[in-house]
Amino acid sequence: MKKKAYIYEKIKNFDKKISVPGDKSLSIRFILLASQALGKSTAYNILKSEDVICALNSIKKLGIKYKLSENCCEIYGKGFKGFNYKNNTVINAGNSGTLSRLIFGLLVDSRNSVILKGDQSLSKRDFSRVIKPMRMFGQNINSKKNRLPIILKGTKYPRPINYSELKGSAQVKSCILLAAMKTSGETKIKCIPSRDHTEKLFLHLKLPIKIKKEKKFEIISFKGKKNYKSFDYKIPGDISSSSFFIVLTLLTKKSKILIRNVNVNKSRTGIIDILKLMKAKIRLKNRKIYNGENIADIEVKSSEKLKPINCPSKMNSRSIDEFLLIFLTCSVANGVSKFQNIEELRNKETDRLEFASKFLRKIGVKTKISKDSFKIYGNPNLILNKRYEIKNFDKDHRACMLSFVAALAFGGKWIIHDIDSVKTSFPNFIPLLKYLGAKIN
Ligand code: S3P
Repeated sequence: MKKKAYIYEKIKNFDKKISVPGDKSLSIRFILLASQALGKSTAYNILKSEDVICALNSIKKLGIKYKLSENCCEIYGKGFKGFNYKNNTVINAGNSGTLSRLIFGLLVDSRNSVILKGDQSLSKRDFSRVIKPMRMFGQNINSKKNRLPIILKGTKYPRPINYSELKGSAQVKSCILLAAMKTSGETKIKCIPSRDHTEKLFLHLKLPIKIKKEKKFEIISFKGKKNYKSFDYKIPGDISSSSFFIVLTLLTKKSKILIRNVNVNKSRTGIIDILKLMKAKIRLKNRKIYNGENIADIEVKSSEKLKPINCPSKMNSRSIDEFLLIFLTCSVANGVSKFQNIEELRNKETDRLEFASKFLRKIGVKTKISKDSFKIYGNPNLILNKRYEIKNFDKDHRACMLSFVAALAFGGKWIIHDIDSVKTSFPNFIPLLKYLGAKIN
């Protein structure tokens, strides 16, 4: 595949209906939980992206069989003690933060050691956030500076823990919950709310999880050691992937889109709420529930006269993967937008706060950046007519896709490097843009 894309003209107005691939968080969670179930579990509409393929390869290395076909993905779980692999088995999590963090939990009681590796970007990310709680469970962890590669070895008798998770990280919370499954006792997590797919899956599997909502925190308690049966699961479209099309439509004159069957779990819809506060025309239609997850069709119309936002910090975790797109939208709002407590953006596939600031300046938008805050001085008359080259973004899939949206919405002559990175989460991103009428070479 070509490594660079050239975009020399804006997208023309469109009115289309599309579907985006299955949700990445749910696809990875399905694979990991099905690997622990008793019998064959089947998922429909699983995402077939590099992160998800890494998850499938990982459970295969641990001795679990799977079949991936056009329509479904079958996993042949063997219960909690079903992993079977040699000492020092290498697991490559590729680019996936979610897989690499959650798998610690499944290996809490592993007999043989695993060497966990990742690509260049994942190897720069900090794992202390999972190393700390996992050591409390009794897992043996060997790492240099909390970075990959990390050697993991389980303990025969993992102990339940009490833990405060104050980053609002669903990966940390989920890693703890997966480890807690394998302890005989109650684990308690006090946490800042974050995406709750693991909790919803536990409820779907009838596992005894309790969630108490307090003003600022959630208290999750969970008693482990209960094997569960295999299950079927229908995976809805990914709101994070949908968001590229939501924003492209908002920013393209006289356009409209309907994105079918998207997961609109409240812990993921921060972008919709933020854009609506900015006066974007977005409606959720045809709501339903699959396996405890809320689903809807998302209708978006082009929206001019966008208002700036002073984003409440409580929205941060609900829109954590969508900030690049929200920032791009703010660049044409009529005034200054402000974001606080967003340091977590610095810990993603690339430092997304730094990337956003450089990107917006490159296209002529004034910004002010600090360690954990960002201000964008919007310009509703923004016109791009220069040459823009986007490279050196640590192959961050979302940084790459953002560049396509900016090029197609604002114009100018663009060269985007490392376009293969979109395969991490959204392999048919470029064909879908072309279906809307985008000219990409
Ligand atoms: C994810 C949680 C988020 C998100 C990531 C997927 C998950 O990370 O950014 O893309 O599936 O649990 P954090 O838990 O680090 O916020």
